[in-house]
Amino acid sequence: MTLKVMTVYGTRPEAIKVAPVVKALEACPDFESTTVVTGQHREMLDQVNAIFGIVPDHDLDVFAHGQTLNSIMAKVFDRLDPVLVQERPDAVVVQGDTSTVAAASIAAFYRQIPVVHIEAGLRSGDISSPFPEEANRKLTSQVTALHLAPTSTSRDNLVREDIDAATIAVTGNTVIDALLHTVEQQIPFTDARLAEAERSGRSVMLVTTHRRENWGGAMEGVGRALKALAQRYPEQLLVLPAHRNPIVREAVLPYLMGLGNVVVTEPLAYGEFTRLMAASKIVLTDSGGVQEEAPSLGKPVLVMRENTERPEAVDAGTVRLIGTDEQRIVDEVSRLMDDDSHYASMANAVNPYGDGRAAERSVAAMRQLFGLGERIADFA
Ligand code: UD1
Ligand code: UDP
Repeated sequence: MTLKVMTVYGTRPEAIKVAPVVKALEACPDFESTTVVTGQHREMLDQVNAIFGIVPDHDLDVFAHGQTLNSIMAKVFDRLDPVLVQERPDAVVVQGDTSTVAAASIAAFYRQIPVVHIEAGLRSGDISSPFPEEANRKLTSQVTALHLAPTSTSRDNLVREDIDAATIAVTGNTVIDALLHTVEQQIPFTDARLAEAERSGRSVMLVTTHRRENWGGAMEGVGRALKALAQRYPEQLLVLPAHRNPIVREAVLPYLMGLGNVVVTEPLAYGEFTRLMAASKIVLTDSGGVQEEAPSLGKPVLVMRENTERPEAVDAGTVRLIGTDEQRIVDEVSRLMDDDSHYASMANAVNPYGDGRAAERSVAAMRQLFGLGERIADFA
């Protein structure tokens, strides 16, 4: 008997992080894998599916420019429910903490379908930051049958919230599976400016920003800080693959006009983005996934947030939380640029988030959920 496992996802980072699990489910004879994209993201989601060769079985097509949190939630509830009724999956798999995840997990719970949560147990401890992700993760944990925690820290967070330890497996983060697989392929740059920077060996600082709680004044401060840094270090190339959100672009991009050592790109295909990360001297970001990937490539990461639900690489010394104050961003980047010993102290390759076997552990834990086998030893 095969069991039907339905993976529901909606944004770029979810697509990257579920891809290894979807592939592992497809390869497991116990399971029939079905995929549903909510389409919370559009171009940024489709790009990742294309790279990993995943053609979703259902597309809820909820995307709208200027979508609100409530409109995403309402559409996902409304459009996922008939698919759950039609497909009658034995389990629904979700990943992370987006609006797609909160809505899909609750929708599955309401249909009494067991929920499997990948990347369970991350906590910043502040319900308003990251917003609304901290709430989304906690809501999802309440309705989850199998919690796939990436690290022992995230497992401990769940246990502290009275979640039964027997329902938690520590798998490592599936992003490391995706990263290792992709870096290995050595996909070349299609953007001529990036190819030239690589050829010339020019020093690169990679920047990404999109966090909702930074929208507005904080993000404009990021734009001003980037301008100041581009002017202070003219030999350095600043590369900003810009999130598609117009709110982000309108806040940051005006400050970067006319600067010869700043390259703004559309969202990069995952293979090119990881290549760029590996070639960069410094990574400046507010992204969750980039905080997990860059440390394993040995890159110092400055995180433009006040807190993080990913403390492991901070503890290892490779990631530093610097907030969004404009002057602080300039000072912290300058310190990495000017102080070689400080740079060396942060440029350590650490792998606290995974060993490339997270998808395998996730599928083994799902088999155990259905009484079909044993788990693999937890990621340590
Ligand atoms: C969402 C997630 C966030 C995650 C991020 C990853 C929520 C509440 N937020 O934030 O947790 O870290 O994705 O990037 O779930 N847009 C496009 N094309 C796209 C994607 C987005 O044009 O392919 C634009 C649209 O104008 C859209 C806006 O970006 O309205 C915001 O997208 P949305 O998914 O609502 O929020 P993100 O900020 O991307
Ligand atoms: N990423 C990408 N192209 C880009 C920027 C990011 O493929 O131009 C990847 C990155 O490697 C990481 C993920 O997208 O795996 C992070 O997505 P994002 O920052 O949008 O979301 P978050 O992780 O903060 O939820």
